[in-house]
Amino acid sequence: MKILLIGNGAREHVIAETLKKNKDTKLFSYLKSKNPGIISLSEEFETGNYADLEKIKSFALRIKPDFAFIGPEEPLNNGVADLLSEIGITSVGPTKSLARLETSKSFTRNLLRKYKIEGNPKFEIFDKNNLDDAKKFIEGLGQCVIKPDGLTGGKGVKVQGDHFQTKKEAFDYCSEVLQSHSAVVVEEKLEGEEFSLQCLTDGKTVIATPPVQDHKRAFAGDKGPNTGGMGSYSCENHLLPFLTKKDVEDGLKITQKAAEALHKETGEFYKGVMYAGLIVTKNGIKLLEYNARLGDPEAMNILPLMETDFAEVCNAIINQELHKVRIKFHNNATVCKYLVPEGYPGNPLGNEKIEIKKIPQSAGLYYASVEQKEDGIYTTSSRAIACLGISDNLEKAEKIAEEATKSISGKLFHRKDIGTNELIEKRVRHMKNIGNKNQNI
Ligand SMILES: Nc1ncnc2c1ncn2[C@@H]1O[C@H](COP(=O)(O)OP(=O)(O)O)[C@@H](O)[C@H]1O
Ligand SMILES: [Mg+2]
Repeated sequence: MKILLIGNGAREHVIAETLKKNKDTKLFSYLKSKNPGIISLSEEFETGNYADLEKIKSFALRIKPDFAFIGPEEPLNNGVADLLSEIGITSVGPTKSLARLETSKSFTRNLLRKYKIEGNPKFEIFDKNNLDDAKKFIEGLGQCVIKPDGLTGGKGVKVQGDHFQTKKEAFDYCSEVLQSHSAVVVEEKLEGEEFSLQCLTDGKTVIATPPVQDHKRAFAGDKGPNTGGMGSYSCENHLLPFLTKKDVEDGLKITQKAAEALHKETGEFYKGVMYAGLIVTKNGIKLLEYNARLGDPEAMNILPLMETDFAEVCNAIINQELHKVRIKFHNNATVCKYLVPEGYPGNPLGNEKIEIKKIPQSAGLYYASVEQKEDGIYTTSSRAIACLGISDNLEKAEKIAEEATKSISGKLFHRKDIGTNELIEKRVRHMKNIGNKNQNI
């Protein structure tokens, strides 16, 4: 089985590793930079950027893979799945039109509204022609969140009380967004605990993987600026300490309905990952956003737990046979901690050498944005290496991940608090204060 893998982060490293568990898999990868982990698992690789459609096409034509796996959002937004489809290659990863689920927040909010799918907060969408109405709408909300309509690399969404304070600032930010984006989404601010429910779909059947909680803030105690994600954890019972089974089922139901709505709306079947960014509130589960791909770091929490052959799962996605597959996950807890360059995210120290000593055997190590050079591995401007601990409980998994970080040295830092009891109890207390209708607390 020949698989073309596009992407070069730690997410793609774990995707590569999981696909390679099938002895018949031969991997061919297209990457933006030389990720040593992915390269070592590949028969062949090509480097280039994700907008160079000609280069991707000629690599694919030469390799003739059975299917492609598109990891990051950027190539999905550039229409790489469409391009490959034109030359007869199916992708795990949606077409450009279906990837609007992630790339256009107005598309997704409107989809849920049109098909009467629960999960939306109060929201409205504004453009240059009706910006005046935004003022009234903002006045009528308690606190609000402003979202540019389009990919912003996780840097465009602003939350009242967090990134700005007053309603005037909210309106001013709407105007600012419309300088560079065609529309802006204004929504009510929801209170609760966030989690990621990464679902696999062939456009008809939707299957949830265990829920994961990510940590966006750069420093311990959820301090500092937002990042691509500093680490994440999942629990052995495939719930989270503040989530009920019903919460997870509700998140899956929203996603099943959204998959059906996508087909009605576009006539196309969505094949790939529908990652629901959910929040559990006092009124139950709400949808913050969808991503059209696995999470990074969250992919590292779920793929190593997959007992079912991932390459077979991908085949079932391509052939729309997911209803025939029972995807099983080990009942283990996972903790993932990212080592990032000093100064990240604002002023990262790139081009610094990283030394890796022997990693404890029980730990996983995944390369993210590092550059393999002749004399070793160097940092770039983004997250460098992820350490993963897996064990039968969270406490042990956290210790393994923490231990693994000690075998890597360089001008790097990480969040020591991810997966610790102290932080998790804080999340549980937060949720108890808010209440959850599915828990009657
Ligand atoms: N309606 C909302 N209420 C409260 N917080 C929100 C809301 N929408 C988004 N956020 C916060 O902003 C973050 C980023 O928003 P999200 O919709 O996930 O966009 P992106 O990941 O593209 O930046 C979320 O993780 C969440 O913390
Ligand atoms: Mg998000």
